[in-house]
Amino acid sequence: MNVNEAIRNRKSTRAFLPREVSEAQLRELLETARWSPSGGNTQPWQLYALTGSGMARFREAFKGEMAANPRGDRTEFPIYPEGLKEPYRTRRYVCGEALYASINIPREDGAGRLRQLMQNYNFFGAPAALFFTVDRQMGLGQWAHLGMLMQTICLAAEGMGLATCMQEAWMTRHTFLRRFFEVPEEMQIYSGMAIGYPDNTAAINGWRTERAPVDEIVKFVK
Ligand SMILES: Cc1cc2nc3c(=O)[nH]c(=O)nc-3n(C[C@H](O)[C@H](O)[C@H](O)COP(=O)(O)O)c2cc1C
Repeated sequence: MNVNEAIRNRKSTRAFLPREVSEAQLRELLETARWSPSGGNTQPWQLYALTGSGMARFREAFKGEMAANPRGDRTEFPIYPEGLKEPYRTRRYVCGEALYASINIPREDGAGRLRQLMQNYNFFGAPAALFFTVDRQMGLGQWAHLGMLMQTICLAAEGMGLATCMQEAWMTRHTFLRRFFEVPEEMQIYSGMAIGYPDNTAAINGWRTERAPVDEIVKFVK
């Protein structure tokens, strides 16, 4: 698969097959993706990887977390800005509606929507996952670089026949994650990422998000 195909193929996958992803595969993926750039080559991140016994231990510990803290934590910073303005608000709305429509959950079915949201904490069934932390000293620039690493991982995963879903949803579990991974206080916990083989029969994987056309997001200067 060439890079352009990987970019076009990558999408957020929200149902995975139970097929194992080995530590060797995760290492192969990360050996490639670690070549992602960062300003001054600072590489201001630390990742945590789960598969096999590590994932089993995580899942077991997370059961206790759910029992003790069913509502989760307040996030350390807002996932979206308050009063999200246009056109971002509509784009977000359209994306959410399409996701729930794909699995026939109407807007009024709050319980159904919550059930689907909670699938995040099952990694949508994925057997492997990554978590991303960035040094709190870092600013907006370095956060952008972390995003490049995340996308590079997603694209490298495509090249290996694996699918991914980035998961900011885990920000509501930062105290558990900090405890479980023993994340130093100086590191900010950001997103998770589910990794595995896609279940292409699942309805939730059967739709695609749209993108604004080039002429809406780019001004070609004459
Ligand atoms: C950093 C980041 C975090 C995300 N967190 C979640 C998440 O917690 N749960 C989820 O279902 N999707 C999550 N998404 C997926 C986005 O909704 C998705 O990327 C967007 O709608 C575009 O769709 P696509 O990835 O299929 O192209 C996240 C995406 C990014 C980039």
